[in-house]
Amino acid sequence: MVVETPSKVILFGEHAVVYGYRAISMAIDLTSSIKIKKLDKNEVILNLNDLNKSLKLNLNEIKNINPNNFGDFKYCLCAIKNTIDYINIEPKSGFEINITSKIPVSCGLGSSASITIGTIRAVSKFYNKELKDDEIAKLGYMVEKEIQGKASITDTSTITYRGILEIKNNKFKKIKGEFKDFLKNCKFLIVYVEKRKKKTAELVNEVAKIENKDEIFKEIDNIIENAIKTYNKDDFGKLMTKNHYLLKKLNISTPKIDKVVEIGNKYGFGAKLTGAGGGGCVIILVDEEKEKELLKELNKENVKIFKCKMLN
Ligand code: PMV
Repeated sequence: MVVETPSKVILFGEHAVVYGYRAISMAIDLTSSIKIKKLDKNEVILNLNDLNKSLKLNLNEIKNINPNNFGDFKYCLCAIKNTIDYINIEPKSGFEINITSKIPVSCGLGSSASITIGTIRAVSKFYNKELKDDEIAKLGYMVEKEIQGKASITDTSTITYRGILEIKNNKFKKIKGEFKDFLKNCKFLIVYVEKRKKKTAELVNEVAKIENKDEIFKEIDNIIENAIKTYNKDDFGKLMTKNHYLLKKLNISTPKIDKVVEIGNKYGFGAKLTGAGGGGCVIILVDEEKEKELLKELNKENVKIFKCKMLN
């Protein structure tokens, strides 16, 4: 059995969401893949194919491990442990999991949440206990909390429920209707610009020190108010770029990110950094008439480009 799981981007409202304002997130078709198969032995084998790493454990060991001691395997192992515990079975048959992912890591796209949610779906299905999305999202959130110490529901919820979500006060609302239909028809580029120099928590702490941040967050909220009623790519792109320049005022952009946003704005409908900042990724709304030029200009910047669409 193979489970494909999306990643996510924040379309608007990163950082503002930490202060009780809303953010809009979207599941995208840059996916991770979890392949699970039965083993005759009482073992669990995990293969991280992209990293060329493998781990073998005894099935009975799983419930007593501390996943945080297992490096790159920690999210997957924690997801296995919590899922087996939640479905409340004494597992008899072992399994092998092969993980591959197209999602760049540590740049705000939710690569670990994607592996976590995918593992929960795969393991629960493997033991014939199909879980509801609400249960999967909750388990995923618990896993992120256990591994990171602190978590927001943004990644695990967006990746579980897919489509478009409004996040506010660590709660979510699915956005449907015209706005979603509009986004379904949008083509985006995710541009991995550079490695993040700081962790999300550090960037959040730095933003906390900015005096006029509340003013900036109110402007961002205003942008969202307009964006969710705009079913026009040109206007939507302009709002993305406007959000970017407000994020720049929060000091979380970098010269290279700004350069890519400029290109995205000139050869696309608009662009912004996505996620915590300090490097990482830019999202560009593609104008198909100028797509070739856009790609040509971006390719001069030594960046990684991923074409993507909303995943429902
Ligand atoms: O870690 P990232 O890049 O997905 O960014 C999270 C978004 C923030 O608003 C900066 C933090 C948060 O917890 O919402």
